[in-house]
Amino acid sequence: MASDDAVRATNDDAANCKRYAVEKKYWSDPYIAMLTPRSSSKHAPEISRGYYARVTAMRSMLQKFIKITGGECQIVNLGAGFDTNYWLLKDIELSAKAFVEVDFPTVTAKKVFHIKKHASLLEKIAGEDGDIQLSKSEIHATDYHLVECNLRNLNELKAKLHDCHIELALPTLFIAECVLVYIDVSSVNEILKWIAESFTTALFINYEQVNMTDRFGQVMIENLKSRDCYLSGVDACASLDSQKERFTSQGWEGADGMDMAMVYNCLPQADVHRIEKIEFMDEKELLEQLLKHYCFVWGWKDPNNIGLAALDLT
Ligand SMILES: C[S@@+](CC[C@H](N)C(=O)[O-])C[C@H]1O[C@@H](n2cnc3c(N)ncnc32)[C@H](O)[C@@H]1O
Repeated sequence: MASDDAVRATNDDAANCKRYAVEKKYWSDPYIAMLTPRSSSKHAPEISRGYYARVTAMRSMLQKFIKITGGECQIVNLGAGFDTNYWLLKDIELSAKAFVEVDFPTVTAKKVFHIKKHASLLEKIAGEDGDIQLSKSEIHATDYHLVECNLRNLNELKAKLHDCHIELALPTLFIAECVLVYIDVSSVNEILKWIAESFTTALFINYEQVNMTDRFGQVMIENLKSRDCYLSGVDACASLDSQKERFTSQGWEGADGMDMAMVYNCLPQADVHRIEKIEFMDEKELLEQLLKHYCFVWGWKDPNNIGLAALDLT
């Protein structure tokens, strides 16, 4: 399917934008440059500020989840692309019992290739016991797994997580960073329903588009369509309410969320002031528009009250 190639290519875009912003010192990440080449083009400051908000918010939620569970937890990154959080968390001595990254085989194969090439990526995965199994497109180690899977196929996802020895009784955080919008709503609903029914304690953090029914949203859809990239799941991205409702309608206990303009104002303001000095930006309204069209929404299921309902970005 041609459009799946375009969807896979969105990972190159994301990794590229992240590397660009890291080189400008919006945030620090020594690993992204090992996974993606330097971008030859200049990126607008509002793009880097948007990525800053997305990356900083996701890092904050990941750290809070690991701390709440004392590390007795699992993290599953759906459509992980070239995400580097596994290595960044290790650097601050935070880790989960299992960290699973899932993506299409072409993407995971590229990630395997880069990981094999860089000792600092490989060594952290292998750990002290050196236990690591590598294939062309998958990695299995003590607390790290990289697996290929088409997320539109729930049975495949279940089988892959089983291969990673994921335990249904351990608190589990699922993250999807700019991924669900590429998958039809019914397939996403199946995943959400299965998690809510099967895992005792779960948190799901979803970052993606919101407020997509207005003019700005429609232009975004058209631009992507012209690159053969279809937002098959965009119907769930109409509003913050529709984003939250996809959790509560699939059996989750509760859901909350913010658009990225709200998130931007909740981030540690001293650091926000620092990054705002990196590049001059005269298009303040464009940044505001961009931030209003992305969101962080999270759903929880927490029958033992470990504190997931109280998690937020403040
Ligand atoms: C925009 S990229 C985001 C990558 C990463 N989450 C990040 O934020 O840097 C979207 C990712 O979702 C993956 N993806 C989209 N649909 C998928 C599907 N049906 N099955 C597996 N992966 C999928 C793509 O291959 C791509 O790596």
